[in-house]
Parts: sequence; structure tokens; C-alpha cells
Amino acid sequence: MTEDSTALTELPGWLPSLIRSLKLGYRAGPLLIAVAFGTTVAAAVPDALLALGFSMLGTNPAAALAMLAVLGVGGWLLATVSSRANRRFADRAAIVVEQHVACIQSTITTLEHHERPDVMDRISVLRDHAEALSELYQQLFWTLGALARLVITVGLLMAANPWFGLLGVIAVPTVLVSTWRSDAERRAEEAGAQHDRLAKHMFELGTTPGPAKEIRVFGVQDKIKDLRQRAWWRRHRTLSRARWRTAWWQAGAHALFGLAYLVAIASVVHQPTALLLVLAAGGRLAQYVANTVQTTQFFRTIWLDVSRRLAWLEDYAAAQRDAATQSPPDRLDTGIRLENVTFRYPGTTRTVLDDVTVTLPAGTTVAVVGENGAGKSTLVKLLCRLYSPTAGRILVDGVDLAAIDPQQWRQRVSGSFQDFFPFEYTAAESIGVGDLPRIDDPVALDAAAARAGGVPVPLPTQLGVTWENGVDLSHGQWQRVALARGFMRDEPLLLVLDEPTSALDAATEDALFERYARAKGPGVTVLVSHRLATVRMADLILVLDGSRLVECGSHAELMAADGRYAGLYRIQARAYGRTGS
Ligand SMILES: Nc1ncnc2c1ncn2[C@@H]1O[C@H](COP(=O)(O)OP(=O)(O)OP(=O)(O)O)[C@@H](O)[C@H]1O
Ligand SMILES: [Mg+2]
Repeated sequence: MTEDSTALTELPGWLPSLIRSLKLGYRAGPLLIAVAFGTTVAAAVPDALLALGFSMLGTNPAAALAMLAVLGVGGWLLATVSSRANRRFADRAAIVVEQHVACIQSTITTLEHHERPDVMDRISVLRDHAEALSELYQQLFWTLGALARLVITVGLLMAANPWFGLLGVIAVPTVLVSTWRSDAERRAEEAGAQHDRLAKHMFELGTTPGPAKEIRVFGVQDKIKDLRQRAWWRRHRTLSRARWRTAWWQAGAHALFGLAYLVAIASVVHQPTALLLVLAAGGRLAQYVANTVQTTQFFRTIWLDVSRRLAWLEDYAAAQRDAATQSPPDRLDTGIRLENVTFRYPGTTRTVLDDVTVTLPAGTTVAVVGENGAGKSTLVKLLCRLYSPTAGRILVDGVDLAAIDPQQWRQRVSGSFQDFFPFEYTAAESIGVGDLPRIDDPVALDAAAARAGGVPVPLPTQLGVTWENGVDLSHGQWQRVALARGFMRDEPLLLVLDEPTSALDAATEDALFERYARAKGPGVTVLVSHRLATVRMADLILVLDGSRLVECGSHAELMAADGRYAGLYRIQARAYGRTGS
């Protein structure tokens, strides 16, 4: 992670964030946003001027009625056009904004942000509100409209008696208190975000099919319910404390305004025109202040905040964007070398890989063995550049991997991961995403499927129970699809196979690796497996133990050395009835 991104903890200022969101909205529909803005703000004018019409009823009823009719019809027309334009614009902006949020997240090249709770909290709030962000614009226009009504109404009152302008001043504390209140609520929401995340996670656990079996077998329903409830209450308590603390101040500010309004009415009780104006405009002033405060508050707490989070995510992703531009070699000549590679997951203190130095020669299969948690999958993730080493470096034909453009590097990497994802597409697409340019190429798909020892269903089959006609697969069958996906790319520089056959039967695994060993390409293949009968076929075997590389050599060399690997091999050979080395 770059230093810049670590320092990015503050949300950007509200004005630049708002301007950035507006630019995004402008891109979604320049004409629509202009019409929506113009009509929403313009609709405020006739509405606010109605008070003037009312005040003239006593002195010039005909003109007053004509004025009220024009203002009423004009206001209605503008309000209708404004609501249509805002609706259509929001629909269009929703697509643009959601796509934008998803795109920024996918441009973050490493997975490190998934390890940072502060980042995850921010993203989780943003994800929840992202689709609603499209309404930001309408909210902003409404807020401006409410403000315009307020200004016009204060102007009318001041025209009758400059002292009545004070009503506008006395309304200020209500706005200030509301602003402060929404800030306090936002801070409380952020402080309770981890409880919120936990509560949601528990809800997902209790309601999604994945964990359903284990939850029932182990009878943990009550525990989950309890944890969820406690997390939810903790979040609620933080928020509700903040709300109560600020509510008294808000009530006081509104009471002060009410008192001033009564004094104003009492002062003009003997002047009919002024009284009508104060009653109409003053009464509306209270309503406009409330509206302005409400929309401003709503705008500040939700929309402005989401807009700031979006700007923050854009900055975060930009800071994460790798400046590395070097292209990977077309072909691997010497291989991949790890030099004193040490790694700790971001935000943790435990060293997962400690000073690992080894060369993975081009054109070989390198097996990595070690007990659970020894750091095998972590090593694979470092090679894929999903994380950067905490210390040391990885060299690809002598070039530091950190200097190679991660996107280009990953185009030359392929593989199958221990925690592979079951893409619920058709079988063909689920395999084809392993090499997008050839997703429709039947020859490539067949070749990949054959390399994986065949796929369990015909290629056009829709996979996944989410779909009405979707077929669900067993874990091992999903793994075969993932394996075929990993074999889509021709001659990758690096092929990682992290326990790619853990769910396959031993005979299939044996056949697969024998076939693979005969057809392997010029790149490096890294194979992680607990089955040493498979591992023995590798050209080089790395043994990880407690984060350190403790042995390294061919099967024959390691057996001759009679160390940790030889011991493990004998145990497994005995268990499976194999003998000798
Ligand atoms: N995302 C993560 N954040 C923090 N720590 C992690 C993360 N992933 C793994 N670890 C820790 O790193 C260590 C090594 O994990 P790794 O997944 O590399 O082990 P492994 O050798 O692949 O184990 P297994 O054989 O079970 O797959 C473990 O102690 C694990 O707790
Ligand atoms: Mg692993």
C-alpha cells in the first residue's frame, strides 16, 4: 500500500465533493439536469409570491385574484415539469452512478483495502446508499428551491417592515442547530458502523443458503440471533444517544422562532394589509424555514455525505493506482525469483512469510507444501500481485514485479484458487471468463475443459440455483469448472494452482497432473497441494513451515535429505499404501 493511501483517512471537503458529483450527474444527462435544476428552483418563485397576492386581497381584490391565479397555475406547471425531469434524470443517473462506484472499486489493483476495517466501513455505507445517490441532484435542487422561497419571503416581510427581517435572523439558530445535529448523527453512525456490519453479517448468515447446513447441524441459530441483536442495539444506542443529546437544543431554537412570530403579528394587528402579509408570509416563513432545515439536513446527512464518500473512494482508488508501467516479458527466460520476501497482512503484526529467498525456474512446476496456515496461499497471492511484499522483492526475469503494470501482469497469469468463486453463468461463460477475448471460442473452451479432465455438464448449461433453469453443481464439480477456467489462457507466464483438486478424487487428480506435466508450457507453474503423491511429480518442491522456507529441492533430493518433507511423505505413503521414495 502506498503511503498516500494510508494517509487518506479524512473525507474530502463537501464543496469539491459536491462539484465532482455534479460533474458525474452532468455526464449522465446534460440537458435533463439543466431542465430539472431550472424548473425546480423556478417553481419556488410563484409559490413564495403567493403571500403578496394574499396581502392585496383587502385593497385590490381583482388584481389579487388575477395574481393568485397566474402564480397558482404557473407554479403548478413548473412543479409538474420539474418532478418529471427530476424523475427521468434520477433513473438515468442511477445507472451511471452505480456503474461508476463498481468501476472505481474494481480499479483498486490490490486486495489490501479488504483488510482495512476503516476502508470497509466507508465502502459499506457507500454501497448501501450508492443507488440512492442518483437522487442527490433532486435533493440539491429542492434545497436550493427551499432556500429561494425563504429569501423571497424574508424580502416580502422586510418590504412591509424592515424589522420583520429579524424573523429570518431568529430562524438562523434552528438551521445552525440542525446542521450541528446532523453532524453529530453522522459521527455516531460512523462510530457504530462496525456494529452495523456485524449485525448485517449475522443477518446474512441466518438468511442465506451457504451457511444454512452448518448453522442447523451445530444449532447456532440462537447464538447468531443474539449476536445480531446485541450488535444492532449497540449501534442503535450510539445513534439514539446522539439524537437525544441534540434534540433539546433543536426544540429550544424552534420555540424562540415561534415567540418572535407571535410578537410580529401582535405589532401589526391594527394594519390589515401588513397583518395579511405577516400572517401569510410569516406563517409560510415558519414552514419554509422548516423545509429548508429539513431538506438541508437530509441533504447534509445523506446526500452530501454519500457524495463525500464517493469523492473519497475516487481519491483512494487513485492513490492505490499503480504507477508501474513496465510490461511483463513475452516469454519467461530465467524464471521468477523471490528475494528476502517478508509479508504481514495489512493491519496485522504476524509475519506470515519470513525472509523467503528462492528461484522458480522458467518451464518448471514448483510445488509448495506445508501445514495449514504456513503461508502457501499467501505466497500465491504475492505472485499474482494481489498484495505487495512488506519487505524484499519478487523478480520476473530480473525485473521487479513492483515495476510491472499489475493489469498487464495479471493478463499473463492464470490459475485456480483455493477459495475459487462459482460464477453462476453458463458453463461455457464460467470457463470462458478465464480468458475474456476468447470467451466465445469453442476450440479454446473445449481445450480448457479437456485440460481440466472434462467438465461435469454440457457447456451451454446455465449454472447456479439463482436462475430458474440453473443447475447446481457439487463442490467438486464447481472446482472442475474453476480449474478449466484456470486453463483458458495459453502459455501464461505464471500458472497458480492453489489446491486446485482438493475436492476431486485421487484418481482424477493423478490423471490430471500426469497429463499436465507432459503438456506444461514455458512459464512457471506453482502448485499448492497437501497430497504428496501429486507433489512428487513437481520439478521443485518448497516446504514452508511456520512462515519460513525450510526445505527446497526435487522429490529425490528432499527424500535423500531425510528432513521434514521425507517424514511427511512417509506418513502419507503409509496411509495410502505406497512405499519407497
Ligand atoms: N486476509 C488475511 N488477513 C489476515 N491474515 C490472513 C489473511 N489470509 C490469511 N491470513 C493468515 O496468514 C496465514 C497464512 O495463511 P495462508 O492462507 O497463506 O495459509 P495456507 O498455507 O494457504 O493454509 P491452508 O493449507 O489452510 O490453505 C494464516 O495464519 C492466516 O491466518
Ligand atoms: Mg491455502
